[in-house]
Amino acid sequence: MDAITLLTQDHKTVESLFKQYEALGDRALKQKQKVVQKIIRELAIHAAIEEMVFYPGVREAAAEAGSKSSDAADDLVLEALEEHHIVKWTLAELEKMTPEDERYDAKMQVLMESVRRHVQEEEEDLFPKAQRLLKKSINELGERMEKAKKMAPTRPHPRAPDEPPGNYITGSMVAMADKGKDLVRDLASKVRSSRVGKAVSELDS
Ligand SMILES: [Fe+2]
Ligand SMILES: [Fe+2]
Repeated sequence: MDAITLLTQDHKTVESLFKQYEALGDRALKQKQKVVQKIIRELAIHAAIEEMVFYPGVREAAAEAGSKSSDAADDLVLEALEEHHIVKWTLAELEKMTPEDERYDAKMQVLMESVRRHVQEEEEDLFPKAQRLLKKSINELGERMEKAKKMAPTRPHPRAPDEPPGNYITGSMVAMADKGKDLVRDLASKVRSSRVGKAVSELDS
């Protein structure tokens, strides 16, 4: 799959999760949290592969094309990195909250507005420029991102480096720690929903 198709598909996946979240309204708080966990995971992985592979690839191709293209691509990528940075802070806060929190919906609202604006800018400005600059290497970048998805962090890390080589070095370590936390969370939720878990929580109450 080429890079632009892959990233656009990710954007569609996130948008459909946003719609699921919006459709839940004030109901089904547990389901709401599950949807938000999926949104956090999708956005963490998507941001990581853009930062590790796509953005550096675009800047490299632009530098080869000459100084005018290079300056314009650098500006777009640097702005995108700053937008990712703000989104990651919001995701990191949401990760620690529950839907019962008074600020939960407001924070999700701000997150969705920021992501939707960022996605629109990428699809209208950065992707067409990248398509022209990358030419055939657009397929190679797509393949590299498909591989990078498997090793990418699944949680937001706003303090971690977001450009190579820093994100290459910390990325795989952080990703391993994330996978461990995901496993613990999924096991805990399975135990809670099992008969034993229900019996234990009844004893606790
Ligand atoms: Fe992005
Ligand atoms: Fe994106």
